[in-house]
Amino acid sequence: MHVPSLIERKRDGGELTDAEIGRIVADFTAGSLPDYQMSALAMAICWRGMCPRETAALTRAMLESGSVLHHPPGHPPVVDKHSTGGIGDKVSLILAPLLACDRLWVPMISGRGLGITGGTLDKLEAIPGFRVGLSEAETLAQLETIGVVMIGQTEAICPADKKLYALRDVTGTVPSIPLIVASILSKKLAESLDRLVLDVKYGSGAFMKTDEAARDLADAMRHVGEAMGVRITTRLNPMDEPLGHAVGNALEVREAIDTLQGRGPADLVAITLDLAAAVSDAPREQLAAWLSDGTAWAKFQALVAAQGGDVSCLDHFETVHPAPVRHPVTADRSGVVSRLDAGTIGHASLSLGAGRSRADDAVDFAVGFSDLVKTGSTVRAGDCLGIIHARSEADAAAAAEAFRAALTIVA
Ligand code: URA
Repeated sequence: MHVPSLIERKRDGGELTDAEIGRIVADFTAGSLPDYQMSALAMAICWRGMCPRETAALTRAMLESGSVLHHPPGHPPVVDKHSTGGIGDKVSLILAPLLACDRLWVPMISGRGLGITGGTLDKLEAIPGFRVGLSEAETLAQLETIGVVMIGQTEAICPADKKLYALRDVTGTVPSIPLIVASILSKKLAESLDRLVLDVKYGSGAFMKTDEAARDLADAMRHVGEAMGVRITTRLNPMDEPLGHAVGNALEVREAIDTLQGRGPADLVAITLDLAAAVSDAPREQLAAWLSDGTAWAKFQALVAAQGGDVSCLDHFETVHPAPVRHPVTADRSGVVSRLDAGTIGHASLSLGAGRSRADDAVDFAVGFSDLVKTGSTVRAGDCLGIIHARSEADAAAAAEAFRAALTIVA
């Protein structure tokens, strides 16, 4: 295989064969195809794209670079959800145990937050003792006992994606639909799924800024997933304001617990039920009942216990990671809230320390925003519009300034 010729062909708008793609990924993973050639190829793909066949071949090659879960014969349907990320999006914490109430298997492999997008693993690790690094044997055993497991990508799962994503991150080659599709789906398909629902966000707090761009990504993911034998459902959801009332790791866990105890905010409950209904056999009314009658809450507690987490702290979770500074932001006028910009709140949360700018940064579980007002609410001057949780007064003041920039109240 003459790699420069393949790079040139892609640079000039040609197509690569399945065999060529398979070999490139295998050699890159093994270290015999150097980073500079893979970077050049990634940039050529960014500019020229890939046809659906090439994208499926890339996804398959990345999937086959590592191990996949092997479910036993006669297992229940295996289902999952992937979201392209958003601000205050704690849906996975609620949806995974909810789906397990339907006797489905949910082997959810999630990621950590990067940039303004929060990560499910960071939220789970805010629960003292919670282990996200389970072996394949532990994962399968937990599916047998409670039907749900929430873990991170291991060294064994999609090593090609791990290596390629690190390279894309530093070579300006992240925003490419075929590369994104292969990266996301190879990790999800390593769970050996029967059904997957994709929650593709668009708006100021999302990776995709417009619904057209989100539609293109959703269509590409559905095509590849279906080519690989998985039933794919896609949902496009706006991300112009934070989901629910809380942004930040421990604050979002608290809101997820409230939701599992039947006291969730309307927007969070609605999207969770929509996504769950897309892969569940149970009707939406039954899923809603499991959220409100304690069934999903009991499953979440079983999940936390099974993965070593401290179940006893869940009922008073607001005391587990208290921030030293709590700073309310109040309305300076009366009117209707017409905007609370998700992207601006996401950046402010990152600056408070809730997220990471680089993959190896640590996150601060305590900081973020709670009690956020929703757009469409009528407020009076002096009403609380949200509470900033910060490490210092200076951090809180900077976040308050950002909050005011994110907010519009119309008379
Ligand atoms: N998330 C991923 O896992 N990969 C991408 O390429 C983009 C988002």
